[in-house]
Order: sequence, then structure tokens, then C-alpha cells
Amino acid sequence: MMKNTHRAFRWPQPLEGQQARIWYGGDYNPDQWPEEVWDEDIRLMTKAGVNVVSVAIFSWAKIEPQEGVYDFDWLDRVIDKLGKAGIAVDLASATASPPMWLTQKYPEVLWRDEYGHVCWPGAREHWRPTSPIFREYALNLCRKMAEHYKDNPYVIAWHVSNEYGCHNRFDYSDDAMHAFQRWCEERYGTIDAVNEAWGTAFWAQRMNDFSEIIPPRFIGEGNFMNPGKLLDFKRFSSDALKAFYVDERDVLAEITPDRPLTTNFMVSAGGTGLDYDDWGYEVDFVSNDHYFTPGESHFDELAYSASLVDGIARKNPWWLMEHSTGAVNWRPINYRKEPGQLVRDSLAHLAMGADAICYFQWRQSKAGAEKYHTAMVPHAGEDSQDFRDVCELGADLALLGEQGLLGTRLAQSRVAVVFDYESQWATEHTATPTQQVRHWTEPLAWFRAFADNGVTADVVPIRGDWDSYEAAVLPSVYLLDEANSQRVRDYVAKGGKLFATYYTGISDERDHIWLGGYPGSIRDVVGVRIEEFAPMGDDFPGALDHLDLDNGTVAHDFADVITSTADSATVLSRFKAEPWTGMDGAPAIVANRYGEGATVYVGCRLGRDGLASALPAMCGSIGFDLPQGDGRIMRIERVSDDAGFEFLFNRSRERVTVEVDGEPLVASLGRVEDGRAVLDPNGVVVIKR
Ligand code: GAL
Repeated sequence: MMKNTHRAFRWPQPLEGQQARIWYGGDYNPDQWPEEVWDEDIRLMTKAGVNVVSVAIFSWAKIEPQEGVYDFDWLDRVIDKLGKAGIAVDLASATASPPMWLTQKYPEVLWRDEYGHVCWPGAREHWRPTSPIFREYALNLCRKMAEHYKDNPYVIAWHVSNEYGCHNRFDYSDDAMHAFQRWCEERYGTIDAVNEAWGTAFWAQRMNDFSEIIPPRFIGEGNFMNPGKLLDFKRFSSDALKAFYVDERDVLAEITPDRPLTTNFMVSAGGTGLDYDDWGYEVDFVSNDHYFTPGESHFDELAYSASLVDGIARKNPWWLMEHSTGAVNWRPINYRKEPGQLVRDSLAHLAMGADAICYFQWRQSKAGAEKYHTAMVPHAGEDSQDFRDVCELGADLALLGEQGLLGTRLAQSRVAVVFDYESQWATEHTATPTQQVRHWTEPLAWFRAFADNGVTADVVPIRGDWDSYEAAVLPSVYLLDEANSQRVRDYVAKGGKLFATYYTGISDERDHIWLGGYPGSIRDVVGVRIEEFAPMGDDFPGALDHLDLDNGTVAHDFADVITSTADSATVLSRFKAEPWTGMDGAPAIVANRYGEGATVYVGCRLGRDGLASALPAMCGSIGFDLPQGDGRIMRIERVSDDAGFEFLFNRSRERVTVEVDGEPLVASLGRVEDGRAVLDPNGVVVIKR
């Protein structure tokens, strides 16, 4: 369960005799290749400026080919070659994917789905975190790895397992059941407290004893799981994997206390499997894997996700552990990256606070399920555009490092957009006002709308310091417990500028509704009272599918029926609808004064475009000055006491020209002429100030 303090931040140090540089490299799977290829790899790594690789992530079956029989020779040889060439190693615990001998001997380590089906070996991550047997074997391997490599001068960090929960997030086995029972006992103390939290005085769900708690296994199509139980099962599942990670970490840390540790998260706008903000308390440095979303949101989603990672890292440097040079292999259609995007995407992560830029993977596989996943060295080899781009990026990173980028941090924005994993989990329940609305899309829409108005917001986890910003957005933050409701109250009372939307402050941490009219926990702060929701859709002929607002924007999917506003409130915008809807003239956007501060409540889903066009008036009403920037350009700044770097990205499909102050250190599909940056689509320039 939750901790109050983060583990001390520790960053991997350069190899002896080397200067600190921006780390650059990728996952390296030498075990997929004959040894002759390794020398060629090192030649190309050196050419590209690669200075770190992550090794042995999926190598358990090669390191321990039979139970208790270890083969480190190949790994020693490759680490030695790398290190001697000046390439550091981020060494995996190698525990992500167990070998066949283990699962054949102990099939009870395999996880089970909600129907009780076994997840068989054949891919990876087919283990359950609550298995005592798997724990014993994995911790044993961690111990062997740590003992073997504890004095190796080339190993600069531990890469513990890999993307926990990517495939084994939910396990419904009996091991999981018993662990879930213990977790509930720890959280609630008594079974009565669980009954109260889950609201089991309903459908005969009351339990007499912790042994009556079962995971949310299959309950029949079209039936509805107890929401409190489901929410807690998501918390438990994140915690069970975290506990497993912590055990692996502690074995490694005990033997090699001088090596910083991390495990790669999967933070993206819609990637909400584990509570990564909670996990962030348990790593020495945060690392993330991010894969681009094809299409029009590509850049914005990336910038948003990277900003959230920076928030999880509490503005300490973080490590981009994986992204792709081009197409991935796991979508139904695997779009390529457009020219310029390889360099641009990496620089965007860098701008958002990453001090390490790494890819999955170094050399594209020629066999196996990832043979169509692009890599730094593609199938075409050295003579390829991707490899030339990889070399260009390596040179850019080296230059930015020399020029002092290390040591700078992402500058704090004026605006915090709050993100909350648990609100996402609660809104995923299948018995809600509408299945069209979940938490995660709303923070992304606000981030984009602010960007359209020239403001690059910070995405801040709810446990973070969003209440230290000039303005904060609570975008469909559905769960607000007592403590967070009080934070909101204090923030605005002391002068904060708050934007809050529909579906915020609806329930407490148990998903019990705050009564008396929505948003029950902060009604006084935002000055509105809502008696009912008006979801919208087009699944029935003639159903209400949108609502126009008198400011020219249009709401889809969701509107609040605001029945009264506080005396201190001003209606900024009303619905304009036919009388039969009952919504004509009803308040849609409401400003309020509370204490020293002010709020704007947006009682409907406007989407990115609607928010972008409504923002100037909303900001005006709350006293937040929008800059006079060109929203087609995203400006991101990294600063320290004595240095500043400005990154300018073209978010649009057109060539854009903007005034700049300074000469570019790095430019891709962009240039600076006579004090003006000219940026093509996917273009970027980096300027030192
Ligand atoms: C990640 C994983 C890598 C690789 C990559 C492909 O989820 O950690 O090992 O599979 O995806 O995109």
C-alpha cells in the first residue's frame, strides 16, 4: 500500500573516465544473434553515439538453461565488449519471462483469467506475482545476477523485470484470491469495514469473513460487478505487482547498494493499468516506455504523456527506456513514422525532462514475434534512413549534453492538469451514466486546448503539488476523497484559479457518491448544484446526441443538469436547445468566486476544440492571462539556475514561422533565419538562452 515518501533519487553514473552525458541507446538482445554480429553492433553503436544499452531482459532461459545451472559466459563476454568500447550496461534482472523448465515443473505459477483459464507459456510474462514458488525462483535469479555482476564496472543500473503488468496485470487464481483477502484485511481491518466500503448490503453480497472474498471472477455476461470490489481489485493488482518488484529490488539492492534501480513504466495518455504515480515512490529513478499514437494526436499525446512522467518523477530527471524508431508490430495497422518524427519524438521526451533517450530495440529481429518492429538498426542495415536519423540524433544529444542540458529541469508551467489513476479505474465500471465517458480523455483534451492557446501545461498526478500552480484543472477527477476535497477548498480559498469539469468530485475513495447534489465534495467551491446528468449518444434514433452552447461550442457525450448556482457565481455560457430537451437556457459553464480565488466549472464535454475556443473567455473570467503565442508551436523550456533551453515544436501540418531569441543548437526540419524560426511539419529547433 501507499508510502508517504519517495525513495531517494539516484541517477546512473558514467563509466569510469567518462563525462556525464545524456544517455542514449536501447534494448539490446545479443542472444538473438551469433557472436560475429556483436562486434558489428559495437562498431555501429559507436558510430551512432550510443553510450548505454539494456541487456538480458528476456534472457532467463539462456542464463539458467536448466534449474540451478547457470551460464553467464556469453553475457560476461558481451558486457565486457560493450564496456571496453565505452558503452555502459543497464542490466536486467532477467526475470520478466520464465523458462519452460520452470513452468512445466510448476504450472501453478501461471496466471489465470477471470474464467479460470490458464495463461500458458508461449509468449512472456505468464507468471503470477502472488505465487510463492515463482517468487522463490525469481528472487534466486536476482541474487545470482547481483552476485555475479556486483563488481562489474560496466553495469551502471538495474532494470528490474520489464513492464510489470503488461500481460499479467490481473490474475484470478487461488494465490491471487488469498493475497487479495490479506490485502483487504490490511486495508480495512475488519470484514465489516469491507462490507461497508463495498456497499454489500445489496444483492445479498454481505460477507462474514475475509475467506469469503473472491477476486472479481466471471459473473455472467451482462451482469455488473460490485464497483467497490472491482476498484479495490485494481488497487490490489497494482500493489501485488509492486510488492513483487519491491522484493526483486531489495534482493538486488542489498548485494549492490551502489547501483541505482528502475523498472520501466508504461505511461501514456490511455495507459492506466498500474498506478505509476504510486510506483514512482519505489524506484531510484523513473523510467518509461512510450509508443506513439498514430494520426493527428501523435505529438500532443506524446508531450502529454512525457509531462505526466515528469510529474511522476517530481521533476527529477527520468529515463525514456523504450520508444520506437518507426512502426511497432502490435497494432492492427502498424503505421510508419513520418520523416522527421524519429528525431522529433526523442527531442520531445528530452524537452519534457528525460535525460536518457532509449529505444526498443537496437537491432531489428529477423525472427520471432517482433521481427516487424522497427529498431535503431533496421532490416535494411546501416545504409538506411532510420540509421542515419539515429546517428543524427546521437550527435544532437551529445551536443546538447556538452552545452549543459544535463542539470536543467523541465520548467514549471503556470497550469497543472491533474491526472488520477484511481478516477480512471472507477470510471471504467460498466454501470455508470454512460460508457462513453472515462477520466483519462479529459486531461488530454485540456492539455491540448491549453497548447492550442500557447500554454504548455504540466500534467500532475493527484498526489503531486498541483496546488502550487497559478491555475489547476480537475478534469473529470471523479474520485475526490475528503483530503483531496479539502485540498481543493484550501487551494482556491488561498487564491488558486481552478478549472473543474463534469464528472469531478462525484464519489469518495470507496466510490460512494457524495450526496446532496453533484459535485458533492466541492459544490461550495465551484458554486453549482447538479441534480441529474444528461448523457448523449446516437445509439437510439432521436436520442439527444449533442447540445449547443451559446458561445458557439458543442457538447457531446455528457452534460450536467445544473439546477442552481451560488450567489457568488456567474454563468459564462448556457445551453441553447429545443424546449423538449429541458436544457434550453440551463447553465453550461459557470464561474465562481471562493475565498481569495476563483473557479470555472465546465458542465459538459466540449472536447479539445470546444475547450480551446472557450478557454480565452474562461481564463478571462478567472484572471488567468493567456500569452499571445501561436498555438501551432509548442514551446517547452528546460532551465537551471544558470542555463535555459527552449524547444520549439511544430504541432501543425503547415510550415510555421515564429520569432525567436537566439541561435539553434539543434534543428530538424527547421531553421532559424533573421530571428525567426521556420518550422516544417514535424520540425523542431532547440535554442540555448
Ligand atoms: C514493450 C516491451 C518490449 C517490446 C516493445 C515493443 O512493451 O517492453 O520488450 O516488446 O514493447 O513495442
